[in-house]
Amino acid sequence: MARIVVVGSANVDLVAQTPHLPEPGETVLGSGFMTAMGGKGANQAVGAARLGAVVTFVARVGDDAFGQQCLAAYAKEGIDTRYVGITPETPTGIALIAVAADGENTIIVASGANMTLTPDDVARAEPAFQGADVLVLQLEVPLETSIAAARLAHKHNLRVVLNPAPARHLPDELLREIDIITPNRIELAQMMHLSEAEVQVLPDADLARTALKLGPPAVVITLGAEGALVADSGGWTRVPAFEVRAVDTTAAGDAFNAGLAVALARGADLVDAVRYANACGALAATKLGAQPSLPTGDEVDRLLHTIRE
Ligand code: RIB
Repeated sequence: MARIVVVGSANVDLVAQTPHLPEPGETVLGSGFMTAMGGKGANQAVGAARLGAVVTFVARVGDDAFGQQCLAAYAKEGIDTRYVGITPETPTGIALIAVAADGENTIIVASGANMTLTPDDVARAEPAFQGADVLVLQLEVPLETSIAAARLAHKHNLRVVLNPAPARHLPDELLREIDIITPNRIELAQMMHLSEAEVQVLPDADLARTALKLGPPAVVITLGAEGALVADSGGWTRVPAFEVRAVDTTAAGDAFNAGLAVALARGADLVDAVRYANACGALAATKLGAQPSLPTGDEVDRLLHTIRE
């Protein structure tokens, strides 16, 4: 049984559909609205639970209706919420998301309670790390909390996957605790202080070499419809994407990271785990919303099976 710990953010997403994403100063008449459960940490926790893993989520929500909705949603997914704290007088994190007709999005996060998650919260969750396989981190909670989680993970021999989203400068203190880092092209460019255009034209071998300079021993660069590039000291491999009709790419990266963690926890090698993760990400892009779009293990197996035939 795959055992996953996720330390990260919990949001409620306010999602507007629009014919195109607005330019600065432009008002666009949207075509639909929904609220959905989101937050990169919560999405990855729910994603892993839907794939059949035993998941503990370490997070903070506010003392408000959104916070209660989050807790109820995670419990319904079978996630251990013992370490989801409630921070008084602080709102639950929210995200304002615009989704365009071609599936692309823009996201603004108002972090709220996510920024009150502390290293002490992580220390309290130590029993969940004992016997777990993989810790998954993102960058929507304080860095010192992620560092504390990664250190605790290594104390208990978990592998540590960092999804560096949203990208920011990362201290060596964190990077040296990471086993696998999973940036997309934009995040890689930002972390390496390169322009997006420079990274866009790099051939795979150079992209792999550039990404390995980040420090962690293995890098998985997610390339959307172009699949993913896996690089470590043994070389690099491009793992192709599954072709789907993208409706909303929100949480496709989260589904990918959840799939990667679960496959690794089940003993897959990195390239096979990335193939599984690609299937999870592709399926998530076919539905609107973050957590509503995350696939079950059966859905992923069906996609993998169809393609193999
Ligand atoms: O990765 C998608 C997520 O980013 C959304 O659910 C939103 O809440 C933000 O955290």
